[in-house]
Amino acid sequence: MKKLLIINGSPRKKGCDARVCDEISALASKYGYESETVWAYDLQIGGCRACMACKSTQRCVQKDGMNEILDKIRTSDMLIFATPVYFNGETGPMKTFLDRMYPLMRMNPDRTVESFIGNVKKAAIVVCCGAPDGNMKYASIVTKFINVLKMFNVTDVSGAVIPSGNPDTVLESSFCKGCLSQIEFQLQME
Ligand SMILES: Cc1cc2nc3c(=O)[nH]c(=O)nc-3n(C[C@H](O)[C@H](O)[C@H](O)COP(=O)(O)O)c2cc1C
Repeated sequence: MKKLLIINGSPRKKGCDARVCDEISALASKYGYESETVWAYDLQIGGCRACMACKSTQRCVQKDGMNEILDKIRTSDMLIFATPVYFNGETGPMKTFLDRMYPLMRMNPDRTVESFIGNVKKAAIVVCCGAPDGNMKYASIVTKFINVLKMFNVTDVSGAVIPSGNPDTVLESSFCKGCLSQIEFQLQME
């Protein structure tokens, strides 16, 4: 089976991001994926120390479980990054998670980038927010994740901001429907 890894940056296990990700998991199983969720808030990971040891080993020196998660990333076929907007950005634990993905890339002396992200070919970014015009205001958050993933040579990346703030109605939002249909398209493609 193909593997879908969801990294959820919300503290709310039944929040908007979680609801959208549940739908993504259901779609994924339709297309032969098994999914697993990593909750950034549940990890006991510290910030990147910029020691650069990972540039030669592709492992992190911190013994806090992140290497095991990097292994899960490397063996996934598709990644989902889901995060609420907290004051114009992703949540703190999601930012820490992103920084700790540093072992998955190496910058060579000639400034070329090598990717060690393994099987991952596709990714999607889900950004839930409260502001009704969040799709305009927070598009830059999606772009930032897309740019990070491009450095890892993951080029089939979709992303959407979903204004709602209400887990009971988020799935009815046209932004959510658009986001899910893009992801379904990605899941269908080989
Ligand atoms: C600390 C904090 C900061 C927030 N900042 C913003 C913000 O800047 N813009 C916005 O539209 N919503 C903001 N929100 C609302 C959340 O983004 C929104 O409720 C989102 O749907 C929560 O996602 P979740 O249900 O997956 O946790 C904030 C919420 C919290 C708790």
